[in-house]
Amino acid sequence: MEREPIGVIGAGYVGLVTAAGFAELGHEVWARDIVPEKVEALRRGEVPIHEPGLSELIRGTSERLHFTTEMPDVLERARLLFVCVDTPPTYSGDADLSRVEAVLAELGDSSEHALVMKSTVPVGTGRSIQRRRDGIGYVSNPEFLKEGSAVEDFMKPDRVVVGANGGSEEYADRVAALYEPLGAEIVRTDVASAEMIKLASNAFLATKISFINEIANVSEELGADALEVARGMGLDDRIGPKFLQPGVGFGGSCFPKDVQALKQLAGNTGYHFQLLTAVIEVNELQKRRTISKLQKHLGPLAGKEIALLGVAFKPNTDDVREATSLVLAGRLAGEGANVRAYDPVTGHKAEGMLAGAAIADSALEAIDGADAAVLVTEWPEFAELDWTGEVKRRMRVPLVVDGRNFLDRDALVEAGFTYEGIGR
Ligand code: UGA
Repeated sequence: MEREPIGVIGAGYVGLVTAAGFAELGHEVWARDIVPEKVEALRRGEVPIHEPGLSELIRGTSERLHFTTEMPDVLERARLLFVCVDTPPTYSGDADLSRVEAVLAELGDSSEHALVMKSTVPVGTGRSIQRRRDGIGYVSNPEFLKEGSAVEDFMKPDRVVVGANGGSEEYADRVAALYEPLGAEIVRTDVASAEMIKLASNAFLATKISFINEIANVSEELGADALEVARGMGLDDRIGPKFLQPGVGFGGSCFPKDVQALKQLAGNTGYHFQLLTAVIEVNELQKRRTISKLQKHLGPLAGKEIALLGVAFKPNTDDVREATSLVLAGRLAGEGANVRAYDPVTGHKAEGMLAGAAIADSALEAIDGADAAVLVTEWPEFAELDWTGEVKRRMRVPLVVDGRNFLDRDALVEAGFTYEGIGR
């Protein structure tokens, strides 16, 4: 295998996994981040985010994996620069590209380097950069990593997308070659299509979730069980079983942002993307439906003690961006309820974000004396609690809203709990 020195710009989720992944494949990697404390910690082998397997990978590849705050360190050694900086949403829903622009500014008018865009950017970004920077090498290489399984997703991708136009084809060959050892299908295409593949994939998955959430809501009224429905639907090859789990809505740093961004991009061209408008609205309503489930059993929530189990937007991550827990805590506070939240990984980091909720040090502490427990994140330890013994004894009212259909419903009901799942 040809060894290619690699530059990675931005050491967040995507950058760290990309950097460590390529180092694992045998390449020398220079990863640059502008936050000095982060770079120092990484040099000591301390990883600032919770991502299974990542610390081990970073420590195991430390000979080939170098961290720096200085752009010239990277530019001197690598020609391919994997851009992994944040592109957060602005108020309008468009993506904020200021960090990508900052990278461009630092690159100056170098004609020796190629940008390999991993950050999620609006369709058209690559073309606009190439137009402004005549002759710049540019490859679109969107990432499809899921937080919580990012290392595995890097090593075993479903597909790798490599988009390039005209003069950048040679760079695209080199990028494609880097991924060849992974054995996945490599989709070679143009830049705009590569950019669209990323946004359309996330928008489609989000649509699948909002769809099954609506099926769940209707199933509750009509007496069907949405889990049975999803199982029966998922066996159809054309539908597939994944991303058909009804729940308290999708969160995270990607789906809400990317669905909004695609809708906005369409809108900017004068096209009203009706379906995505509905996907977003369904998700917002879904995040709030728990409140009426609690009211159905408890009446007005003022003064009630509510335990929130899980703060992270999904298990195996400490990420709370766009998490349903934040919306629920806000709504519960608005109703006058007292909320105690517990998460095994975010811990006290979430303090202050949860609208005045107290943060408990354990699930049992959160549940103690509660009028209801709401499971927001399906952390394995929540299934292992002694629900029918210790938990039941500690709760004032044995009411559970299982926002991820994660607990053993039959056992809980048999033990005298009032159980509310999603779509059952
Ligand atoms: C998502 C995509 O799955 C990745 O392919 C993509 O690379 C990434 O966004 C990104 O653009 O960076 P991620 O946000 O890490 O990954 O997490 P997911 O596992 O996709 O979950 C997103 C949300 O959907 C979570 O809140 C999860 O609880 C929810 N979800 C997922 C459901 O409610 N039901 C499901 O069936 C699946």
